[in-house]
Amino acid sequence: MGRARNLIVPTGHHGVFTDGSMLFTRNSVPNDRVYGERLYDQEGVEYREWVPSRSKLAAYLRKGGESFPFKEGTTVLYLGAASGTTSSHVADIVGKGTVYCVEVSPRSFRDLVAVCEKRKNMVPVLSDATRPEDYSFIVESPDILYQDIAQKGQAAIFVKNMRAFGIKEGMLTVKARSEDVTKDPKEVFADVTSQLERSGFKVVELVDLDPFEKDHAMAVVRA
Ligand SMILES: C[S@@+](CC[C@H](N)C(=O)[O-])C[C@H]1O[C@@H](n2cnc3c(N)ncnc32)[C@H](O)[C@@H]1O
Repeated sequence: MGRARNLIVPTGHHGVFTDGSMLFTRNSVPNDRVYGERLYDQEGVEYREWVPSRSKLAAYLRKGGESFPFKEGTTVLYLGAASGTTSSHVADIVGKGTVYCVEVSPRSFRDLVAVCEKRKNMVPVLSDATRPEDYSFIVESPDILYQDIAQKGQAAIFVKNMRAFGIKEGMLTVKARSEDVTKDPKEVFADVTSQLERSGFKVVELVDLDPFEKDHAMAVVRA
């Protein structure tokens, strides 16, 4: 366990800390690393480094993203949890809230289950995000939708889940190459924005995640 060079202090976003360059969340499972991240102790409080090249939500914050809908007690529907890298930080942030982690790949799901066994506010759900009806009986009243699935039709899947659960606010990571490898990513981001707006949602922020994630953007969406 290391000590940060500078004092770790809260940012303006609930549950997110910084030493002036790195981002951190408070580790809800002391001494536990999820993806090899570094741990830091400051006056008996343990922090996990939140690495922007591994997590698009951290990249969004490092790129100056301003909307951060996660609070103490927030219930999150997280689509595309993979092996739990970002969702474990979200779980640190929401504390007594719950993070429902949907993942379709059995291989990633095995690793995700191991993470959820230690982090009791994470619920693993082996399911396909295109079929919210398959997991609606498990997921209880989510406040926020977070979606990070590298699959074509990302906006349509997002809209389907927002509507299925009556969610008013969400964050959508857009991987341009999953929609069309031949198009300029900026054009894909604009297409996704207009698709969301045609579906009755407002895109309140759109942040390009380069250089942390090339050809990716984060859209903050409200009903
Ligand atoms: C880029 S990774 C997610 C990384 C993760 N969000 C993180 O930051 O820790 C995309 C994940 O979405 C999953 N995925 C793709 N299509 C999906 C679908 N229809 N339903 C659920 N998960 C899906 C993939 O299996 C993969 O694990």
